Amino acid sequence: MEDAEKRTIVLGVSGGIACYKAAELVRLLVQEGFSVQVVMTREAMEFVTPLTFQTLSGRPVATETFSLTQESEIGHIRLAGQAHLLVIAPATANIIGKITAGIADDLLTTILMATKAGVLIAPSMNVHMFENPILQENIGKLKALGYHFIEPTEGYLACGYEGKGRLPEPEDILEEIRRLLKKKDLIDERLLITAGPNQEPLDPVRYVSNRSSGKMGYALARVGLRRGAKVTLVSGPTSLVPPSGARLISVRTAAEMREAVLQEFANATAVVMAAAVADYRPEQYVSKKLKRAEGPIVLKLQPNPDILRELGERKNGRILIGFAAETEALVKNATKKLREKHLDLIVANDVTQEGSGFEGDTNAATLMDRKGAVHSLPLMSKEELADRIYDYLIEIRNSR
Ligand code: CTP
Repeated sequence: MEDAEKRTIVLGVSGGIACYKAAELVRLLVQEGFSVQVVMTREAMEFVTPLTFQTLSGRPVATETFSLTQESEIGHIRLAGQAHLLVIAPATANIIGKITAGIADDLLTTILMATKAGVLIAPSMNVHMFENPILQENIGKLKALGYHFIEPTEGYLACGYEGKGRLPEPEDILEEIRRLLKKKDLIDERLLITAGPNQEPLDPVRYVSNRSSGKMGYALARVGLRRGAKVTLVSGPTSLVPPSGARLISVRTAAEMREAVLQEFANATAVVMAAAVADYRPEQYVSKKLKRAEGPIVLKLQPNPDILRELGERKNGRILIGFAAETEALVKNATKKLREKHLDLIVANDVTQEGSGFEGDTNAATLMDRKGAVHSLPLMSKEELADRIYDYLIEIRNSR
């Protein structure tokens, strides 16, 4: 994430059994380049020792308001002022109650009172405590004041109950933090993103497909959401978890993808076709499994419609971004696609290059626009590339 190293997260840990998950969150934040200052309540220290958080964050943990050493070395007002975001994970019913009532009787609640930074609260508790109308009213009041919440998930709870109350996975809290810190410069965009491969069935157990993993399209969806866009993700079969907040439409064949895309197109302001649409489908679908026979068999393929080309013919002010997977003459072939499909931007990949293309988490792409500009980007993560693509989208929008 850009500028992560300059960003400080103050992580407040209150006393719930999910404290152990907060340790993993610290590790992930540090790994991403954040400075993390952990503040623990007295009750939290009953579950996990400060040493765990100190070791993971590389900083002394703040625990006491009235400790002379801590106050001079860390300082609660300084902490409140340093934070780009204050995260409370796990947040007990007790601490949520105290924040709502304006009580500041320990270090964490005092920092919360003194900060001007955004606050993200991750409640975690027994399901009945979570459903308690007092707590729900408190959450409602805090939301109205601009506090952010990440909903607990459902499942087995440490108290033996099943239900809503689990602290979300650290990865999901991290994603929420990324979203809250990101500039919302796509707030007016309704992005229609396609991802993944298609599967064109041949018989009930076989299909024709390609090596697309869907990672680029899903990265585009995640980053689009972080930057404030509304995202509809039309996805072929992948093993990926769709980002929360995206409207997911799962499809299998190119024909299904075409139908979904045409349906959603009217409501979109921009389309990013990252899917590796199947250009061909078996001419015949055989409803019974094909039996092995002597000698070779011939598979006849019929062309599928070119979805992006259809969109290009009726784009009506929308920004259209396509991808080009090439194995030779990258710029020439991609420019041809840009022109023929009436695109505003094309993201060309040399899929023969190491680290680029289908299954990996990185990509080295060349961006080309209608004015003939060609930008060869270095190898970067698919999320970074998604950011670059959106920067370009904004530039195109502004130049109109
Ligand atoms: N695309 C599409 N419908 C198709 C094929 C491709 O919408 N039937 C889109 C892809 O999602 C991509 C762009 O068109 O954004 C270019 O895809 P690519 O496979 O590189 O190009 P093709 O036009 O299929 O040309 P070729 O396979 O001959 O390189």
